[in-house]
Amino acid sequence: MRGIVKRFPTVVALDNVDFKVRKGEIHALLGENGAGKTTLMRILYGMYKPDAGEIIVEGRRASIGSPRDALKMGIGMVHQHFMLVDKLTVLENVALFVEEGFRISFNGIRSRMEELSKTYGLKIDLNAKIWQLSAGEQQKVEILKTLYRNVKLLILDEPTSVLTPIESEELFKSLRRMVETGKSIILITHRLNEALTASDSITILRKGKVVAAEVKPREASRLDLVNMIVGRPLEFKPRINNARKGGKPVLEVERLRVLDDRGLIAVEDVSFVMKEGEILGVAGVAGNGQRELVEALTGLRRVEKGTVKIMGMDVTNSPPKKIIRLGVAHIPEDRFRYGVAPDLSVAENMIMKLYGEKFSRGIFMDAEAIQRETEKLVQEFEIVAPSVNAPVSLLSGGNIQKLIVARELSINPKILVASNPTSGLDVASTNYVHWVFHRLRQAGGSVLLVSEDLEEVLALSNRILVMKEGKIVREFGGGVSISEVGLAMTAGAA
Ligand SMILES: Nc1ncnc2c1ncn2[C@@H]1O[C@H](COP(=O)(O)OP(=O)(O)OP(=O)(O)O)[C@@H](O)[C@H]1O
Ligand SMILES: [Mg+2]
Repeated sequence: MRGIVKRFPTVVALDNVDFKVRKGEIHALLGENGAGKTTLMRILYGMYKPDAGEIIVEGRRASIGSPRDALKMGIGMVHQHFMLVDKLTVLENVALFVEEGFRISFNGIRSRMEELSKTYGLKIDLNAKIWQLSAGEQQKVEILKTLYRNVKLLILDEPTSVLTPIESEELFKSLRRMVETGKSIILITHRLNEALTASDSITILRKGKVVAAEVKPREASRLDLVNMIVGRPLEFKPRINNARKGGKPVLEVERLRVLDDRGLIAVEDVSFVMKEGEILGVAGVAGNGQRELVEALTGLRRVEKGTVKIMGMDVTNSPPKKIIRLGVAHIPEDRFRYGVAPDLSVAENMIMKLYGEKFSRGIFMDAEAIQRETEKLVQEFEIVAPSVNAPVSLLSGGNIQKLIVARELSINPKILVASNPTSGLDVASTNYVHWVFHRLRQAGGSVLLVSEDLEEVLALSNRILVMKEGKIVREFGGGVSISEVGLAMTAGAA
């Protein structure tokens, strides 16, 4: 890609970008939230038209006007939000994606899919319905679907943000096999370790410009990457202070049972107490009941058995509104399902939880105050947005996440229930969010930190609970090692 320029009404998303990927390599594309990574790749995949610049594929100037053109040229993309039809099977989804104009032969598709799945080590049940699959499995379907079209270049936009650590490792093995057969991969990620260990070459964008191209991972350290991505050192180094002795219990959970969407037991006999001024970590492999636990605590899911007390008050099966009023903030796992209303503006999303309180003037909303408060938060969290009146759907993935974090902290919570709070955030924003959590703790607030990122849990938590198969199987104090916690997550009981 040469001299690529892309302007949106209020921002130059890409400013004269040169980007080169070689045959048979995994090329990592790094950069801060809003740097322009997704936009650059959408141009390559024919979803956006650049304002200037050209694309050269295997030595020839290409005109890519749509994803169809891109696929014809051997370029495929897997988006962060999957585009599969829930009610159909894997096979039916692939059939939909196969070039129209032919009569569909399910047997033909099946045997080709089986072959691809074997070649690249992407195991999947072709007869399963999409809704029955985990995020990791759905991603395999997306990748296989694209491979089916014989792509030579596969673009993956933050593929590991929905994967467990084990699934990520498997994905990288499959990607290795692909490049060994001469394909090329572009990998967008915020996880620097992945760029350092799984890629062959790295390009870094900052504010729409290339700051480093074709960096070799062998010749760069994590710190080098941070400096290139952020352009300044990170300020906060987490250091665990001990929780205040004798802190009051703020959240008491007793013998909780919660069911999952299918009606099966997801949380069983879970009891714990979180105290004032502590960060309580919940570690576990995704899908071991963490999501259902969090939803039950925040009033989004029914409690079948047991009790939840907040500040000593029984809130079992209370509506979310009541729980919010008690000072409970929630950073949800699924940012689009519970996190934001994408069609509403940044400002509207920012003040959602304060409606009728801080900003009402009689029956009207105080528009000016809303604007001021939003601008303050946008600045504090360095949220990149076209304007506070722009719909949230125009923000980059990481900036949407920052908006949710900013909003939840703006209500000055006593308790923050946070699910993977830094997923999709760049290194600097992650660092900032960690600092904010720490500050909340210093001020006497408490954080229930549910995260698949073990490093994050260990760096911040005063105590760590390990969940496995719906139960709490271990509790650790501070100073425990990653391998100890990792072992408890997979091996189980004390
Ligand atoms: N359709 C659009 N209309 C207006 N602005 C847009 C649009 N798409 C992206 N932008 C803006 O372009 C800039 C780059 O966004 P992009 O999504 O490419 O960032 P990114 O590097 O992928 O970030 P992240 O790591 O958060 O996903 C951002 O400022 C974003 O708000
Ligand atoms: Mg993006």
